[in-house]
Amino acid sequence: MKIITTIEEMQSYSSELRANGKSVGFVPTMGALHDGHLSLIRESATNNDITIVSIFVNPTQFAANEDLDKYPRTLERDAELSRANGADIIFAPSADEMYPKSLYVGDGVLDVPFNTACTCSDSGRPMTAPTSCTYVEVHGLTQGLCGKSRPTHFRGVTTVVAKLFNIVQPRRAYFGQKDAQQLAVISKMVADLNIPVEIIPCPIVRESDGLAMSSRNVYLSPAEREQASTLYEALTEAETLIKSGERSAEAVKERLTSILNTANLGIIDYVEIVDFHTLQPIATIKPPTLIALAVKFGNTRLIDNVLI
Ligand code: PAJ
Repeated sequence: MKIITTIEEMQSYSSELRANGKSVGFVPTMGALHDGHLSLIRESATNNDITIVSIFVNPTQFAANEDLDKYPRTLERDAELSRANGADIIFAPSADEMYPKSLYVGDGVLDVPFNTACTCSDSGRPMTAPTSCTYVEVHGLTQGLCGKSRPTHFRGVTTVVAKLFNIVQPRRAYFGQKDAQQLAVISKMVADLNIPVEIIPCPIVRESDGLAMSSRNVYLSPAEREQASTLYEALTEAETLIKSGERSAEAVKERLTSILNTANLGIIDYVEIVDFHTLQPIATIKPPTLIALAVKFGNTRLIDNVLI
C-alpha cells in the first residue's frame, strides 16, 4: 500500500484518479486507529474505487493545555490496519508540510517566527496569528456543546478538513456520528462553501460494555475505564425514558446527570439536549433530537451522544 507524505504527490495522484474517472472515498483521521475508524474505511472501500485515509494529528485543533504531544502516533500499525480493511493509499503529511514555515505555539495558534504577530479577536477570544493566514470557520454550530470548553477547536478542524479536501479531492468523505458536532459543522462548511464532496455519516462503534471507541480511551486508568461505561448507560436510559413518553428535556437531563454522577471519578463537562439541525438546546423533545455529553476522567475528556 502506498504511503504519501507530500501534498504535491497526493494532489497529483488524486488529480490522475479523477481524470481516469475513479471515485475516491476519503477517511480523514488522526491515527491511533480502532474499529470505529476501520468501520469508516470499510464503508468507503465498499462504495468507491479507491479509498484514501489521512493520518495527521492536526495541531490547530488542539488548545495549549490539550494532549497534542502525547496523542498516540502509531503510523506503521495504522497503515497495516487500513490496508487490511480496504484502504489503497495513506496520506500522512508532517505538520510542517501542512502548515509550512509555521511554528506551533499552542492554543490553535500559528506563529511565524520571522513575522510580527498581529492580534485579532475572534470567537470572543484574543489570539495571536501570523499577519497573513487563512482559517475556515463555521459560526453558530461551533458555539455550544464542545465549542464551549474548546473555543478554537472547530476552527482547526474545519481548516484542516478543507485543506485535506483540496489535496485529496474526494468524491465522498466518511465521518463518524461519534463526533456529532464535528459532523454537523463539516456538513455546514461543505454546503456553505459549495465543496463538491458528499459527506457520509457513519454509526458509532462501541466496546462490548457500550463505551464509544476512541483513540483517547487508552489514557484511562483501569478504574476510570470501568466507570467510563456510565456514559453509554446514561444515554441508553435517556433513550428509554423518551421512548416511554417523556418529553421534558429537563427531566431527561436530570436523570442522565444522576446516572453520570454515580461515576465518582468523572466530572461532567456538559449534558445537552439539542435540536439535531441547529444544535440549540430545546425544552421539549421532538425528533430529531441529539443528546450529547462530555465527561472528564482525569485529563481524559470523553464524548458520546445518541440521536433520537
Ligand atoms: P479522529 O478522532 O481520529 O476521528 C476520525 C474519524 O473517525 C471521525 O470522523 C470520527 O468521528 C470517527 N470515529 C472516531 N471514533 C469513532 C467511533 N467509535 N465510531 C465511529 N466513528 C468514529 O475526528 C478527527 O479525527 C479529526 O477531528 C479530523 C476529522 C481527522 C480532523 O483532524
